[in-house]
Amino acid sequence: MAKKSKRATDAITVLKDDHKKVKALLASLEKTTERSADRRTKLLQQIEAEVNVHASIEEEIFYPAYREAVKKKDDVELYQEALEEHHVVDLVMPELKASDPAGEVFGAKATVLKELIEHHAEEEEKEMFKKARAAMDKAELLDLGSRLLERKKQLKADHKKVRGLLAALEKTTERSADRRTKLLQQIEDEINVHSTIEEEIFYPAFRDAVKKKDDRVLYQEALEEHHVVDLVMPEVKASDPGSEVFAAKAKVLKELIEHHADEEEKEMFKSARKVLDKDELRDLGSRMQQRKKQLKAAGSPRLGQEASAS
Ligand SMILES: [Fe+2]
Ligand SMILES: [Fe+2]
Ligand SMILES: [Fe+2]
Ligand SMILES: [Fe+2]
Repeated sequence: MAKKSKRATDAITVLKDDHKKVKALLASLEKTTERSADRRTKLLQQIEAEVNVHASIEEEIFYPAYREAVKKKDDVELYQEALEEHHVVDLVMPELKASDPAGEVFGAKATVLKELIEHHAEEEEKEMFKKARAAMDKAELLDLGSRLLERKKQLKADHKKVRGLLAALEKTTERSADRRTKLLQQIEDEINVHSTIEEEIFYPAFRDAVKKKDDRVLYQEALEEHHVVDLVMPEVKASDPGSEVFAAKAKVLKELIEHHADEEEKEMFKSARKVLDKDELRDLGSRMQQRKKQLKAAGSPRLGQEASAS
């Protein structure tokens, strides 16, 4: 908290901070009961999002650096074991999500997930991170730290920002029509740029890389969802922000976008990580960042409307 944002953070601190956050969320989940099914679902979503991002940055950046730096057989084995533990978490998570949060089984599965993740985080902190400190110098760890944070931002940034704006919009009332209009404009700009870079860069790369029919269906479904958002957005904009109808339309827009972002994060991005290698993902990431800057400078037009937007 008191840390200056300018000061570089070493890789191990970045990863430990993540661990702390996930552990706290898991502890909250454990305290819930069958009677608070909504809260369970919400917490589980948060946990999954955190764990996905954390495991990704470890697998893309930290683990490979560790693997290259260590020499001893035992230390290499730690690397393999860590990957296997991530894999087990990936097996348990969908089971927990599929179980009824109002049932008793949910609590049992949640406890097992918690124990798995806690065991894994502890093994990382007490063994792997110690070995990493011994095998890498300070500068390397700082460099890794900034790469981890950068990648984390990329993985989280857009969806998180839009979710925040949508939540703020939902809290407004008919009496704050100006604020509604302003928030909606911000949401539209973000969504336009985001959908455009996905359709221009990420989605085609995904489509070309996947082999399974299910993954191709995901791609088509994502495009259709963008299309529906494009249909609903002008309706929200055309409705009177001083009316009740505005709130209803805004709520539907929020649910649409949240559903879509969830599906991307939980299905499409996961499949993408399986079929695209780290270098490809990094390359796509930087191409999207660049294109985003261009589009924002051009007034955040939607795909195909760039020329007419200037
Ligand atoms: Fe890990
Ligand atoms: Fe970790
Ligand atoms: Fe999308
Ligand atoms: Fe997206």
